[in-house]
Amino acid sequence: MIGKESFADKVDFKTGELANCGSHNKVYLNDIKTLFKDQEEVQKRLDENPLIYETFYPDIDTNIMYVFYGVTKIHPGTIGREFFMTKGHLHIPEQITEMYLCLSGRGMLLEQKDNNIKKTVMEPGTITYVGESSFHRTYNIGKEPFIFIVACNADFEHDYSLLKDDGFLEIVTVDDL
Ligand code: F6R
Ligand code: ZN
Repeated sequence: MIGKESFADKVDFKTGELANCGSHNKVYLNDIKTLFKDQEEVQKRLDENPLIYETFYPDIDTNIMYVFYGVTKIHPGTIGREFFMTKGHLHIPEQITEMYLCLSGRGMLLEQKDNNIKKTVMEPGTITYVGESSFHRTYNIGKEPFIFIVACNADFEHDYSLLKDDGFLEIVTVDDL
């Protein structure tokens, strides 16, 4: 575990890889197949099972005084009309806020709070700040990998349970462009 002592890391803007990577996770269509709206298209693409997104995280101690960071890389593509995306989650505790900084590609941050939807386009240099109690998900709306860095308090968990109910009230599709 790291965090107590100072260190330097390096992110590759093209691949999203972290020099100091502790865990690299790959999420394929089969892992999140229930989340895409067009289930007929999902069935057609399952044999191919495309890689949807990857995450790169250093092994930072989950200490409430520490800052956590990581990189998400969403590959370009669609399932039907809906763009490749992350699962989407709420933070526990809900007061934990978060910052995203787009490094490359083009994406959309989808947020839902009290049944209100907010969509924010992200391009290299865009910083988005996810406030309290905001259910958030990111989409790749471009033709290149969409890569962004996240930073927040290290002592938090992800709550994915909202996805089991109705999920998001809106999605992001080619019609959004
Ligand atoms: C952390 C955060 C990101 C996401 C990542 C994958 O709070 O927002 O590190 O965890 O972009 O998204 P999910 O976890 O929703 O599939
Ligand atoms: Zn988050």
